[in-house]
Amino acid sequence: MSTLDRYAVCGNPIAHSKSPQIHQAFAREVGHVISYEKRLIEFGSFQESARDFFDNGGKGLNITVPFKEDAFAFADQLSARAKAAGAVNTLAKQADGSVLGDNTDGLGLVSDIKKRLGWQIKGASVLVLGAGGAVRGILLPLLGEMPAKITIANRTESKAQLLASLFAGEGNIKACGFDGIGSESFDIIINGTSASLNSEVPNISESCVGRNTQGYDMVYGVEPTAFMSWAIDNGAEKVSDGIGMLVGQAAESFQIWRGISPSIDPVIQLLRTA
Ligand code: ATR
Repeated sequence: MSTLDRYAVCGNPIAHSKSPQIHQAFAREVGHVISYEKRLIEFGSFQESARDFFDNGGKGLNITVPFKEDAFAFADQLSARAKAAGAVNTLAKQADGSVLGDNTDGLGLVSDIKKRLGWQIKGASVLVLGAGGAVRGILLPLLGEMPAKITIANRTESKAQLLASLFAGEGNIKACGFDGIGSESFDIIINGTSASLNSEVPNISESCVGRNTQGYDMVYGVEPTAFMSWAIDNGAEKVSDGIGMLVGQAAESFQIWRGISPSIDPVIQLLRTA
């Protein structure tokens, strides 16, 4: 067995994951040598597989669809972010042998929007589309940036209402269905639905896009996503896909495991040209 510090990403499917490439690029940059593999986990066997990994010296796991809730249940301790998200994307072995569960998805999104794109969240009116696990994972870090308000709009309104009530104590947050968004335009619109994966755009009125609107799709691809094209066609000032969020959440995991913060931009370039 390798004597290198061992990390892995778990999911099903997992073949498409870029995490090994991203983490090896981080390690090269900071002069660390690590092992990072992909682990295809059978449905229903996450706990057993994670236990085996950590019992055999593994240092950390990233967790992707559909095991983030299983990882939440597996962790011995949870960060506040993981508790709020109800999901864990990073497990880290601690010095005392216990395993910490964290969620870095929201941090990845916030740092991408603030630092790389330079969009201002503080004081902004933010529209978040979708109310699934991906959206739940970003709300606490997003509210921590003190936007003037967050409106969560979802195709199934009841799910948006549930999320808004969960986070009501953390800031100005309300919920509606797509037809309840109203006619105001927003400073930032974040598409957290999975619609772009099917080249679809959430069925919302274009009046939420104004001249100063910045549109962010949490999905990424080689081409601009359907949501990005829709936002630009309706007059948005700027748009971005979610590749910086992907690299950003990985950078936060790397920091938790290795105690050092790697650069994000060169790795985004690497992925874009790969
Ligand atoms: P994830 O983990 O990516 O959040 P999820 O929990 O299945 O996945 O949630 C998917 C989200 O995308 C939901 O908010 C879903 O809306 P519903 O709750 O109404 O199902 C949303 N979604 C998926 N396809 C969509 C589409 N074509 N238009 C609008 N919303 C869509």
